Amino acid sequence: MSPVTAAAVLVGRDNELALLDGLLREAARGRGAAVLIEGEPGIGKSALVHAAVTAAPDAGCQVFWGAGDELGTALPLLPFLDALQVREPSVNARRNTIVGLLRGEIAADRGADVPATLAEQLLALVAEESAVRPVVLVIDDLQWADPASVTLWGRLARTARQAPLLLIGTARPVPHRDDLLALHRLAGDDGRIQLTGLAEPAVADLVAVLAGGRPDGSLLRLAEGAAGNPLYLTELVAALMRGSNLTLTPAGTAALADGTGLGGQPGSSGSGSIPGSLSAVIADRLGFVTGPVRDVLRAAALLGVDFEISDLAIVLGRGLPDLLPAVDEARVAGVLAESGSSLGFRHPMIRAALYEEMPAAVRAAWHRDAARALA
Ligand SMILES: Nc1ncnc2c1ncn2[C@@H]1O[C@H](COP(=O)(O)OP(=O)(O)O)[C@@H](O)[C@H]1O
Ligand SMILES: [Mg+2]
Repeated sequence: MSPVTAAAVLVGRDNELALLDGLLREAARGRGAAVLIEGEPGIGKSALVHAAVTAAPDAGCQVFWGAGDELGTALPLLPFLDALQVREPSVNARRNTIVGLLRGEIAADRGADVPATLAEQLLALVAEESAVRPVVLVIDDLQWADPASVTLWGRLARTARQAPLLLIGTARPVPHRDDLLALHRLAGDDGRIQLTGLAEPAVADLVAVLAGGRPDGSLLRLAEGAAGNPLYLTELVAALMRGSNLTLTPAGTAALADGTGLGGQPGSSGSGSIPGSLSAVIADRLGFVTGPVRDVLRAAALLGVDFEISDLAIVLGRGLPDLLPAVDEARVAGVLAESGSSLGFRHPMIRAALYEEMPAAVRAAWHRDAARALA
């Protein structure tokens, strides 16, 4: 993905920041907590946690940060090993034991395998570290973490309340992993922060920061297509600036240059098409749904931004019950949403991307078939 210039400030997340700050200060006093931050890609999970933990040193806490890896990894517990920086030999006996286990120089506990022994050692290390100085332990992108890491996160979550430990996890909502669903339940309503799109004033603030001037009406209407997703907004403004599609008036207003319009009619060419990096962002989101679901979504893209699920069934020649799992998955991934009594794409831009990724000839044939089936 092309680099984007992110805003240096966090907008519209004051409540979430205050909540995390409160938890951090409580943890510093020995009353820890576990909190799971959930939300679609780009909604600002990592940015929120980064902003929240900047206060940690002042509150007397040390911060450990690890993350699940999209490409996966052969090494179980890597997010924790990275976070706790236990890859190299050290003067600390516990850390040396862990390094020894990793290198095969130390055998696993009797009756246990290496990952299980490692998990015990890591639990003990977190306890020891938090006894030295309160700990904020972040595991970002849990949806990509290996099962052993998810299990360890759950075990730590159960003990955090009695320790100077603030355990933070972030995750995309995934329908497929039972272990993540279990974490979701374990966290409970009190232990979860659900991040949704930025509210309108925050969107305007963010666009202003990114564009270097208060957005005018036309720019704001365009920004609405991002549905409050900060990554989309960031990409959108970056793409506009790259294409010289933004002008700053002498009064400091950021406005669309004449003739600029994005995310309009899918399939239209020229200024109506989606900027490359924005498609990349959308492709990333779509990449999160499985192949069969994507096929269903392509058919839906033919029907429009909003559509009836019964029409979708007709176009695909499938029964309604057969489609429901795919539709549910797309909803959880933030691709589809309910709109009144029908369904719709959560972002017109997503629909456009799906539409445009089909070769024109395929599109035309589909349209014909769809029209025939619906007739
Ligand atoms: N509240 C916000 N204010 C300003 N920029 C934000 C905000 N939330 C996220 N961003 C920016 O949007 C992009 C995506 O955010 P990120 O935290 O990476 O999303 P996630 O971790 O949920 O996928 C980043 O460039 C980030 O800096
Ligand atoms: Mg992130």
